[in-house]
Amino acid sequence: MSINVIVCGAAGRMGKVLVSLVQEHQDARLVGAIEATGHWALGKDAGEVAGLGPIGVQVTSDYAAVAAPDTVTLDFTVPDAALAHLRTAVATGAAIVIGTTGWSAAQRAEADQLAPRTRAVIAANMSVGVTVLQKVVADVARILKDGFDPEIVEIHHRFKVDAPSGTALALGRAIAAAQGKDFDKTAKLSREGITGARTDDEIGIVALRGGDVIGDHTVVFAGFAERLELTHRAQSRECLARGAVRAALWLLGQKPGLYAMKDVLGL
Ligand SMILES: NC(=O)c1ccc[n+]([C@@H]2O[C@H](COP(=O)([O-])OP(=O)(O)OC[C@H]3O[C@@H](n4cnc5c(N)ncnc54)[C@H](OP(=O)(O)O)[C@@H]3O)[C@@H](O)[C@H]2O)c1
Repeated sequence: MSINVIVCGAAGRMGKVLVSLVQEHQDARLVGAIEATGHWALGKDAGEVAGLGPIGVQVTSDYAAVAAPDTVTLDFTVPDAALAHLRTAVATGAAIVIGTTGWSAAQRAEADQLAPRTRAVIAANMSVGVTVLQKVVADVARILKDGFDPEIVEIHHRFKVDAPSGTALALGRAIAAAQGKDFDKTAKLSREGITGARTDDEIGIVALRGGDVIGDHTVVFAGFAERLELTHRAQSRECLARGAVRAALWLLGQKPGLYAMKDVLGL
């Protein structure tokens, strides 16, 4: 079975890797490459933009013209655009995999409400390793509920616009859910000055930014006289893109609904 793929944000860092991966995948075919109105890549060949040479698919801004029930969209853009693409996917019956992060609470609530009306995967991190890490972290958080303080450290490249990363937030939410805490009330996204001693309920998240780091996440469970650290390192964007394509292949065979990467992996 060969699937028809549309890449939204085709000239972006992830978009270019996705175009390359789809192009070389025996079960996938690129049928659309989308950028916003006025973007420098419009009218150019998506393969040229990705550094592959021409592949016969032009970058356009008209997503609605290509979205259809037999297509899967891979969206790695910005939250406003991802939400607009999701609305169009619902209206046209297109399946959609959204990797975009940095949603406001209102945007995410609207996405959660819209997404079940088509076939959708929304995940802050598409890598197999991080999806497994989320499950393992929840298991460990349940076991180490008492006497261990959970904290998260992440580092990403200097161009990332949102912080902390969607993955770090998802890991924090997984810990909170496993320990019966309200993440929005207990998360400490910054500490500065005379903060007082750490309380039992806190889940701290620290974001580092620099260079070309693809993305590392470490979850620390700090106890007395010992600590457990679980780390995932993305060595290239390919692990994220491969996960997105895997989600796309899986999603076309599903009923309408909002799915996560753990559903894709059957965890
Ligand atoms: N879930 C995951 O596994 C995962 C992995 C990596 C990244 N991400 C997330 O994916 C998003 C993109 O990351 P990136 O590093 O690829 O960023 P990026 O290099 O900035 O790429 C985003 C692309 O989307 C384009 N765009 C903006 N508005 C658009 C619109 N209305 N329609 C179509 N395209 C539009 C941008 O154009 P401009 O150049 O004009 O801005 C840019 O080309 C971020 O939210 C990031 O955190 C998720």
